[in-house]
Amino acid sequence: MGCVAVHADKFRFCQDFLSVIEQLDYFPITVCGIRTCIICPCKVANLWRKNNLKITHKILSKFYDLIDVFYFTSKGDNPRTAILNIIPNKNVKVLDMCCGTMSNGIRIAKKRKRAKVIGIDLSSNMLNIAKDKIRKDKVKNASIHKCDATNTEFENEKFDYVIIALVLHEIKMELANAMLKEAYRLLKNDGELIVLEWEKSSSIIKSIKFAPIKILEPKPFTSFFALDKKEYFSDNQFEIIQKYHCDYSCVYEMKKRVQ
Ligand SMILES: C[S@@+](CC[C@H](N)C(=O)[O-])C[C@H]1O[C@@H](n2cnc3c(N)ncnc32)[C@H](O)[C@@H]1O
Repeated sequence: MGCVAVHADKFRFCQDFLSVIEQLDYFPITVCGIRTCIICPCKVANLWRKNNLKITHKILSKFYDLIDVFYFTSKGDNPRTAILNIIPNKNVKVLDMCCGTMSNGIRIAKKRKRAKVIGIDLSSNMLNIAKDKIRKDKVKNASIHKCDATNTEFENEKFDYVIIALVLHEIKMELANAMLKEAYRLLKNDGELIVLEWEKSSSIIKSIKFAPIKILEPKPFTSFFALDKKEYFSDNQFEIIQKYHCDYSCVYEMKKRVQ
């Protein structure tokens, strides 16, 4: 039974992958009597960028946690640790907005037992992986819900901390602004918004290692990368109180601007 489930899952994954590959131009060739094809890597990257994020996340969910393995490796500069260090071990409510596989949420729930962590995301594939991790690690103070981060059903000022990690750069500006507006509504007046975003590295080796992320990220990435973050967050009613420069990334700790 387990075997069948695993194979069905693999089969579904292959179907998703093929639905993307099918849209590509390819050049059929025969090598040593074997019929195969050449696919242009630029076309793959373009298609990936243009593609509906839903499909991208469906495929990506299988490999998503590899980001932490490849990019967030040094103990001192790990952005997940920087986020964890901001959250106190107190009776606080934390929202991991667009939680993906809950890389932040689960770590916080495990290390901050008194905190209550809620993860929300639109992708069932990402949430299924998060659910498995929560079950496997027997995490009691974390839960996940499928919902749109721009329009949640939580009441105003419910949370002490809202985390938006590795999200804003991959969505359209209007959507990112709507997400920040919802984060503002959900945060207590003395609460904090924590944003994790990719950051340009000064090291050549790091820039080379970062190239696949730059190529594969969707279209809004370049413009978001170049934004003056202080101005951007200020336009969205948040004030940066601390920045933590981490592996390939930066964690922004912010307060609400309350009129
Ligand atoms: C790159 S992943 C980031 C996952 C996680 N925050 C992390 O730090 O690894 C982006 C996630 O945002 C989710 N997402 C994008 N738009 C969303 C929306 N409007 N509402 C909820 N989730 C959304 C995607 O489904 C995806 O899981």
